[in-house]
Amino acid sequence: MDMRGNFLCLREVDLLFRPFVHRKICLPTRITMAPLARGLARGGVPGLDMLRYYQQRAAADVGLIVTEPVAVNDPSAADDAGMPHFYGGAALREWKRICRAVQATGCRMAPQLSHAGMLRQADGCGPSGVDPLTLEKRGEPMSRERMRAVVLAFAQAAADARLLGFDAVEINGARSGLLEQFLRASTNLRHDEYGGDLVRRTRFVCEVLHAVRKAVGRSFPLMFRFSLSGRGGDESQLVASPAELETLLQPLCEAGVDIFACTVQDLRRPAFAGSALNLAGWVKMLTRRPVVCEGGVGLPGAELSRLVQLVQAQQLDLLSVGRALHADAGWAASVRLGRKTRDA
Ligand SMILES: Cc1cc2nc3c(=O)[nH]c(=O)nc-3n(C[C@H](O)[C@H](O)[C@H](O)COP(=O)(O)O)c2cc1C
Repeated sequence: MDMRGNFLCLREVDLLFRPFVHRKICLPTRITMAPLARGLARGGVPGLDMLRYYQQRAAADVGLIVTEPVAVNDPSAADDAGMPHFYGGAALREWKRICRAVQATGCRMAPQLSHAGMLRQADGCGPSGVDPLTLEKRGEPMSRERMRAVVLAFAQAAADARLLGFDAVEINGARSGLLEQFLRASTNLRHDEYGGDLVRRTRFVCEVLHAVRKAVGRSFPLMFRFSLSGRGGDESQLVASPAELETLLQPLCEAGVDIFACTVQDLRRPAFAGSALNLAGWVKMLTRRPVVCEGGVGLPGAELSRLVQLVQAQQLDLLSVGRALHADAGWAASVRLGRKTRDA
């Protein structure tokens, strides 16, 4: 009750604007920005337009910005000439400036460390040289030496993120990139210990995560993004049952993941037939780690109050917003104030 004896009505969405507190990271709100590839970095170096883009969203009630995918230092990490690098003096200096500008608003920031693998057309590399969008073989399997170099590139990028002052790192295991190419049977045809059943296909991802964890230390937050649904050539589910999901998640937890980021098409849809939980709910239940999830938040047809109920029911911790925040920098602030948001 307030001082005049009236009942205060706590709107459901207010829950999204309470801090998220974790032993390794605290966020001012529970709305995070999803990584959205934009391809606007000339020569791999982020420009002032990118600083403004992130700063505007950070200043409007977003708790954590996960950057667009950034390339680790490997010749085929970038799939697009405009993909920002996360290596080299010029790019890292600009990222530090962007990170400071975002943090000055109270928002936190994490780079999404990525490798395109066979998504890169001319000289991509992948577990078996298979293009994830067409499933055609157009290259040789990655050598052990190259795999080791990629592991080191992720570790170096993570160490640099910490040094530059970022609040966390996210490793991109989604969007058909190199790590997902190792996870999926359609792109990983290897006969060595990195191919075969799900546990073996997870091995390279775990090596990356272990190396990243070692590079950033125990107290730095490590996020891992993945998706069950494929895109392009392979639209099958990555795992078919909760038991298989557990098989996938267990080694990832052991490798040091603190927070799982799940990409789904529709947050309200159950992950498996016959289960009421969506992917975030399952991941949270199986790992007991916080989960951030996105899929249509702020788009027409998605009732925000139903999504907030998932946070309330502790089936997910953070609501991630992609297209709606891209279209409207003030989306989160408008939701907080009960104002009309601009359509994505
Ligand atoms: C243009 C565009 C580019 C994207 N690029 C990436 C990416 O590089 N890495 C990633 O993990 N997700 C990427 N995503 C997926 C988004 O992060 C998010 O999962 C998806 O848009 C669903 O969330 P939304 O409905 O809030 O937009 C991209 C989505 C869009 C629309």
